[in-house]
Amino acid sequence: MKIIVLNGSPKGQMSVTMQSVHFIRKKFPRHELKIFDISQRIKKIEKDETAFQEIAEEVRSSDGILWAFPVYVMLVPSQYKRFIELISEKGAKDAFKNKYAAVLTTSIHYFDHTAHNYMNAVCDDLNMKYAGSFSAEMHDLLKEQERKRLSLFAEDFFEAIENSVPTSKSHVPLIYRDFDYIPGDAENKVAPGSKKIVIVTDSGDSQTNLGRMIRRFSESFSEPAEVICLGEKNIKGGCLGCIHCGYDNECAYHDKFSEFYNTKLKTADILVFAGTIRDRYLSWEWKQFFDRSFFNNHVPSYAGKQMGFIISGPLGQIPGLREVLEAYTELQQANSAGFVTDESGDSAETDALLQGFAERLVRFSGKNYVRPRTFLGVGGMKIFRDEIWGKLRFVFQADHRFYKKHGMYDFPHKNFKTRITNAAMMLLTMIPAFRKEMYGKMMKQKMIEPHQKVLEKE
Ligand SMILES: Cc1cc2nc3c(=O)[nH]c(=O)nc-3n(C[C@H](O)[C@H](O)[C@H](O)COP(=O)(O)O)c2cc1C
Repeated sequence: MKIIVLNGSPKGQMSVTMQSVHFIRKKFPRHELKIFDISQRIKKIEKDETAFQEIAEEVRSSDGILWAFPVYVMLVPSQYKRFIELISEKGAKDAFKNKYAAVLTTSIHYFDHTAHNYMNAVCDDLNMKYAGSFSAEMHDLLKEQERKRLSLFAEDFFEAIENSVPTSKSHVPLIYRDFDYIPGDAENKVAPGSKKIVIVTDSGDSQTNLGRMIRRFSESFSEPAEVICLGEKNIKGGCLGCIHCGYDNECAYHDKFSEFYNTKLKTADILVFAGTIRDRYLSWEWKQFFDRSFFNNHVPSYAGKQMGFIISGPLGQIPGLREVLEAYTELQQANSAGFVTDESGDSAETDALLQGFAERLVRFSGKNYVRPRTFLGVGGMKIFRDEIWGKLRFVFQADHRFYKKHGMYDFPHKNFKTRITNAAMMLLTMIPAFRKEMYGKMMKQKMIEPHQKVLEKE
């Protein structure tokens, strides 16, 4: 069989993910695995019609497609995202239709599930036959057990194609509302005081719903908010995955992206990101922004700020996108102040939502309110903490210095009181009578005792 491997790593053949593809190739020599370096060659694929059509034709004449890529900022790399958009823009969807598809990623398992869900949805939208996905940790290929697992995944994919195994869709098509938002006047202007408000958008078009929402939102304030269009920032390209930034946050590009980020975004009090849904995410330009922000590595850069999103399109039908944006906000240690969309299909309601959003952002900012993180932020941070403490420390030295300085290596074993309590209690529970008491009445009482002491003092 001929399998087309669409390589999403910007590192091309120097990719960790591709080593797993080469492993599959060695294990199944009877199949041809033809690799196309999509992300590394995206500029050519975008501009040169022949280059794009060559890939489309190979896809058309293939038996199956393997989407193989590294997870980048909870999704696919921005260059790969651009390719996915090009499939629709260049009218090549029919080449993918009814092809068997599988996803193979490498990552550190930080929001790999959102990347997989996204690709599953993309395949469903392309009417492909989605046969499954495999999320390898970036060092998994070094372990025999994991190599066996990878072989089984590949075998299952090939067998699905050979036996025309039926597949089901996990995502129903998105329904777009036909609605032109006509903003009303902002009558009660919100005074931001000394708070600096920055709105970042990927579109300078004021005649779209997004453009009109941005205008209505900024008019909610008595002082103008700064609106920054990513397209005007001359960003040279997507993240190259070179990790040049790991030592001291210096990006390999010299296009002033870091300067823009440090001077405009890190200095704001209120940050609002605005974009339009494109496929199952925002645009590739937004993805490029998130990927390039990786020069900060795994360090929160918006601590204490208010963050929110203005989105045009069916966000309510894409819970994965909402999750990614919430997780991004929590990781930045910012307050997730909410989302406003044009999904209601009602201009007056959208006006009210934007007005309320403006008021909430300023109110929260004035009170320095940051709501507690959920599993998204807490769980995510623990993955980073363990990785930077462990295998990735010498690579991400800037992270290590920051984590040490800010007490982010908060492993439970550092807490002596907990250690002593655990040791004492484990000894005591060896006594049957104590054990009976502890797992009986004592448990509930002891759990609330410290809380009750706090309540008494209040
Ligand atoms: C810009 C950037 C963003 C990344 N984002 C994530 C992420 O969100 N989740 C994750 O688990 N790993 C993330 N990683 C780690 C890569 O997925 C991992 O190193 C992968 O194995 C690289 O594969 P490659 O060599 O094929 O490009 C990121 C790496 C880079 C450079």
